[in-house]
Amino acid sequence: MPVLEVRDLQKHFPVATGTLLRRKTGWVKAVESINFSIEAGETLGLIGESGCGKTTTAKLILLQERPTGGTIRFDGEDIGGLHGDGLMRYRRSVQVVFQDPFASLSPRMRVGDIIAEPLEIHTGMTRQQLQQRVAEVLELVGLSPDVAKLFPHEFSGGQRQRVAIARALATNTRLIILDEPVSALDVSIRAQIINQLEHLQDTLGVSYLFIGHDLATVAHISQRIAVMYLGHLVEIAESTELCAHPLHPYTQALLIAALPAHPDAKQERIAITGEIPSALAPPPGCRFHTRCPHAMPRCSVEAPVSKEVAPGHAVACHLF
Ligand SMILES: Nc1ncnc2c1ncn2[C@@H]1O[C@H](COP(=O)(O)OP(=O)(O)OP(=O)(O)O)[C@@H](O)[C@H]1O
Ligand code: SF4
Ligand SMILES: [Mg+2]
Repeated sequence: MPVLEVRDLQKHFPVATGTLLRRKTGWVKAVESINFSIEAGETLGLIGESGCGKTTTAKLILLQERPTGGTIRFDGEDIGGLHGDGLMRYRRSVQVVFQDPFASLSPRMRVGDIIAEPLEIHTGMTRQQLQQRVAEVLELVGLSPDVAKLFPHEFSGGQRQRVAIARALATNTRLIILDEPVSALDVSIRAQIINQLEHLQDTLGVSYLFIGHDLATVAHISQRIAVMYLGHLVEIAESTELCAHPLHPYTQALLIAALPAHPDAKQERIAITGEIPSALAPPPGCRFHTRCPHAMPRCSVEAPVSKEVAPGHAVACHLF
């Protein structure tokens, strides 16, 4: 059974206009009927351009937003129906690491207290047990237990992100949502953090949902990748398969953009031209048709449904 299973998940945000009488005038369709699952010890990458709905998906899983439709199951149980102990257990099991460790770590708290916070809320541990657990997770992420008494500003960017990961691990976490965890870091530090995350997964068996927009990084850490475009999942496959045989024209464009330019490259560069359309007024039919080099008449009227074209490889495009 997968750890996490997302079925037909949907999130529409109401949009209001007018200064005096604010009236609901439309909906931002941030997430539209997406499906994926994550196994124990697996990393699923979630990739797509800015505004395609990645963070909204994360917030739905973290119960920071309520879905408009669909279900999220954790260990087979619908998280929408959780309360009391079951809800507490879920909140302990699923944690998040955001892009900017400065914004996500309280500047006035010592690192030890920052890491202990989710444990204080969710468990009845004594002061001594808390300190011991803080020391354990600091060592797990490659930091000395002595740093517990320091403040976030006393760390480098990479070390701060290690603190955020330690905090996310503290509650014997089963799934960590990594929302662009290395995007704000120096290139030289990124690989260290990615390697640390992989090592932690090997040791602890924790699952990751790794959100990013850089295909090279996402493909490196993920066993499978889901590609999102304007609220829709357009393709999902194993990372090696997706990079070797990208089927959706949008995935192909992302892949070519991620490759270093090669003057002798035989492969034709498929440029994605034009702006990302607004999620407030998404194009009808296939949402990618305004930018797709293969668009056919049917693409602007009929939305493609996702089809499994090879085991574990699904794509939503009329070409398949
Ligand atoms: N609370 C909200 N109210 C209204 N619209 C929202 C809200 N949160 C997100 N949106 C909209 O939903 C869409 C998806 O946003 P989201 O933050 O999930 O994108 P993202 O893929 O994480 O982008 P980025 O790569 O920039 O982080 C965007 O059009 C955004 O403006
Ligand atoms: S359905 Fe049509 S417009 Fe959409 S990606 Fe496929 S070919 Fe392009
Ligand atoms: Mg985001």
